[in-house]
Amino acid sequence: MLSLDLSGKNAFVAGVADDRGFGWAIARHLAAAGASVRVGTWPPALGIFTKSLERGKLDQSLPGGSEWAPTKIYPLDAEYDAPEDVPADVSENKRYAGLHGYTISEVAAALAHDLSGEGSGRLDILVHSLANGPEVQNDLLDTSRAGYLAAMGASAYSLVSMIQRFGPIMSADGAVVSLSYLAAERAIPGYGGGMSSAKSALEGDTRTLAFEAGRRFGIRVNSISAGPLASRAAKAIGTIERMVDYYAQNAPIQRELEADHVGAAAAFLCSPLAAAISGETLHVDMGYHAMGMIADTDLLTED
Ligand SMILES: NC(=O)c1ccc[n+]([C@@H]2O[C@H](COP(=O)([O-])OP(=O)(O)OC[C@H]3O[C@@H](n4cnc5c(N)ncnc54)[C@H](O)[C@@H]3O)[C@@H](O)[C@H]2O)c1
Repeated sequence: MLSLDLSGKNAFVAGVADDRGFGWAIARHLAAAGASVRVGTWPPALGIFTKSLERGKLDQSLPGGSEWAPTKIYPLDAEYDAPEDVPADVSENKRYAGLHGYTISEVAAALAHDLSGEGSGRLDILVHSLANGPEVQNDLLDTSRAGYLAAMGASAYSLVSMIQRFGPIMSADGAVVSLSYLAAERAIPGYGGGMSSAKSALEGDTRTLAFEAGRRFGIRVNSISAGPLASRAAKAIGTIERMVDYYAQNAPIQRELEADHVGAAAAFLCSPLAAAISGETLHVDMGYHAMGMIADTDLLTED
């Protein structure tokens, strides 16, 4: 029987702070396939996330009824590459108080240390499931330079930086997956603030990084372009519930996307079953991306 087996693999999923987003679903699916899964959590969300876990408030179920929890939680702010990049107003902010080692290079060093002697002793799977665009509610045309660059830094460059620093500790058949959205390739009203630009960069970089990191580290780099999900991050867009309904009405498969659909696709892309797939952006959106005209239009009814 064909099986998706990730036993003995070490995974790191960056961008997990509750059980409603794609990161949590991906982590659960990797764990269900046998991987040891560590997660990276944005410092301002760390306290509430760890408390929710301790109090058993998150959906920790795996197929078959067993329970899962991350092997370890690392504070991670993907806006910063090294300690000297963190401005004083951030490091001294009460949401970062008492936390250290949350820049990308420090998390890579901590992982290198923690993984020695565990499973493959290397990082096998890296998932980038994070984004932030402070001006996402502004049209692109009304976005400030600072807002645009902040969206690009947190949501796109962070992948480049992570592969730069995690690549050297990854196993030669390792896999990287990031999360994108259709706004990378089509105009999506309401997805502003430079977030569409960041997703375009993320998808373009997926191809270039697939080549460069493939040659340098032997790893595969892919992206999933997911349909809308009412996650905590997506609620910042303001119209997410209506987008979810719209997709369910107009996609070829008239069903609401669940985070678990993306979790399963990510587990596949990170598995040996996808050994020949790299540089790809895989749509996991009930087929919506294939549509050229909405389905519930008056144009389809006869006079
Ligand atoms: N929800 C959707 O409709 C949708 C659709 C397509 C793609 N995506 C993408 O999926 C990914 C995950 O988002 P989600 O919707 O599951 O929401 P989510 O809220 O579960 O995940 C986003 C995570 O990013 C973290 N984050 C924000 N800034 C960070 C930083 N500087 N450093 C580290 N972490 C940071 C947040 O704390 C949060 O945990 C994102 O890339 C998002 O753009 C979402």
